[in-house]
Amino acid sequence: MQDHPTLKTIFSRKSVRRYSGTAPTREQLTLLVKAGMAAPTAVNKQPWEFIIVTDPAKLELLTQRLPHAKMTAKAGSAIIVLGDKLRQHKGPDADFWITDCSAAIQNILLAAEAMGLGAVWTAAYPDPERVTAVREVLGVTAEHLIPLAVIPVGHPTGEDQPKDKWDPSRVFLNEYGKKLE
Ligand SMILES: Cc1cc2nc3c(=O)[nH]c(=O)nc-3n(C[C@H](O)[C@H](O)[C@H](O)COP(=O)(O)O)c2cc1C
Repeated sequence: MQDHPTLKTIFSRKSVRRYSGTAPTREQLTLLVKAGMAAPTAVNKQPWEFIIVTDPAKLELLTQRLPHAKMTAKAGSAIIVLGDKLRQHKGPDADFWITDCSAAIQNILLAAEAMGLGAVWTAAYPDPERVTAVREVLGVTAEHLIPLAVIPVGHPTGEDQPKDKWDPSRVFLNEYGKKLE
């Protein structure tokens, strides 16, 4: 069962922070965004927009302004996921824009793994400094658009490896506290 190609991709995905320096193609990046837009989204609101960044000068600026995304310039490209608050729910469901965009991010990470590329989720929102940095570097002036994540994408060197996070002690059967095995 674990040999199923989808499961293999899920279990081999890892945060890639070391890149060979060869940039992905425009077609690859567009396909990644297409995978992102295929994510589940509450009431099909699709509260997202995406910026594909391939300009080396802008990648360098993102690298300088985002200390937690220092790998961006070397990756050769990045995909920025923006939440669109004009398309968000009203009332108590308003925060669904974050969960919907997170599902899109995970789809992009899995698609990158399946395509032999490497990627890493680096956070912008809710850190105000990171959000401002992305806004300024990429010209996101509209207040309803919130930079949620910067995803550097490139060719992995192979040094980054998946972590085994399976922990059956965190899983319960039918009732909280009742162990699986
Ligand atoms: C919401 C979120 C924010 C993250 N922000 C960063 C970040 O700013 N920089 C970074 O290098 N990794 C970031 N990561 C990646 C995590 O560090 C990584 O997923 C975690 O260490 C588990 O490793 P793995 O992705 O290889 O399984 C973030 C992950 C998530 C889900």
